[in-house]
Amino acid sequence: MTYRRCGRSGILLPEISLGLWHNFGANADTNDCRAMIARAMELGVCHFDLADNYGPPPGSAEECFGHLMKQEFAGLRDEMFISTKAGHLMWPGVYGDWGSRKHLISGLNQSLRRMQLDYVDVFYHHRPDPNTPLEETIGALVDIVRSGKALYIGLSKYPPQLFKQACAMLKEEKVPCLLHQFRYNLLDRACEAETLPTVAEQQTGSIVFSPLAQGMLTGKYLGNTLPAVSRAADTSSVFLNEEKVQADMERVQHLQHVADAAGLSLTQLALRWLLRRREVTSVLIGARTVQQLEQCAAAAGQAPLPAEVLAAIDALTLPGMP
Ligand SMILES: NC(=O)c1ccc[n+]([C@@H]2O[C@H](COP(=O)([O-])OP(=O)(O)OC[C@H]3O[C@@H](n4cnc5c(N)ncnc54)[C@H](OP(=O)(O)O)[C@@H]3O)[C@@H](O)[C@H]2O)c1
Repeated sequence: MTYRRCGRSGILLPEISLGLWHNFGANADTNDCRAMIARAMELGVCHFDLADNYGPPPGSAEECFGHLMKQEFAGLRDEMFISTKAGHLMWPGVYGDWGSRKHLISGLNQSLRRMQLDYVDVFYHHRPDPNTPLEETIGALVDIVRSGKALYIGLSKYPPQLFKQACAMLKEEKVPCLLHQFRYNLLDRACEAETLPTVAEQQTGSIVFSPLAQGMLTGKYLGNTLPAVSRAADTSSVFLNEEKVQADMERVQHLQHVADAAGLSLTQLALRWLLRRREVTSVLIGARTVQQLEQCAAAAGQAPLPAEVLAAIDALTLPGMP
């Protein structure tokens, strides 16, 4: 594994990290989950990204991870970098969502109980809250670090201006933002305009999610029927379906041709393309199987993609292109 420094911090993160949004919920086989965590650690994929609402149902990914930590991986805790988040709907009533001090502190306490951990390495505010003063959200995050329940703070899906303001407040409290988490893949380059330059300017790290567009950028949906075992075919996931897959298939087909011409799998092309950006500290993949994890981890530490491959990708994926 190759590691990159996270902004101006002391932390190194693997170029490929493993997210537990899907595939670690109540429907998952615990033995498969155990095998994935074990293989990840062997490969040097030592960063595991969770959130309170990962499952399904919400909370179950943290429970599964906590069970495995206690049963098998507790001895590796200091070699692991574990994150969780709060800020999406998690429990009933008026305190179970968004960015109040009440929600964030209660949410982290619940997450620690589910994961059977004393602390997380990174605690994120999962999404900005338009109705809570930023000072309140940031104050809660600062206090969480001071309490020792999280070592670092991260922010997820904050638009650039708000991210800058939040970073300034955190710096003032001497609890600098470690990581910004946002979507980036060959089908969604929106972060290139402002978010990536802001990350560079603020000297934070960044970790990019859905790098394979939830599996679309592996080429698995290019056939005539949905693979029976796949996120788009899984009715318990509302985030990808046949309609969304169809909407992007033509572009994916063209990208598959670029990958074929470069002698790479589309998965490798997609991940190596993200790693070309030095502002990207880590690429956060999801995996259903150990084999998928291994294929993704193999993208780390590779030579940069040749200029003609990058140009072919730009021709297909920059705004205004077909
Ligand atoms: N902050 C946020 O709001 C936010 C939002 C989304 C995600 N995230 C984080 O980012 C992580 C990754 O997101 P994601 O799951 O959308 O990432 P992704 O890597 O784009 O998609 C993961 C899916 O791609 C497929 N896949 C992966 N490797 C493959 C391979 N080698 N061959 C074939 N298929 C492969 C699998 O799909 P199948 O299931 O079809 O096999 C897997 O479940 C999440 O776990 C979470 O930690 C954060």
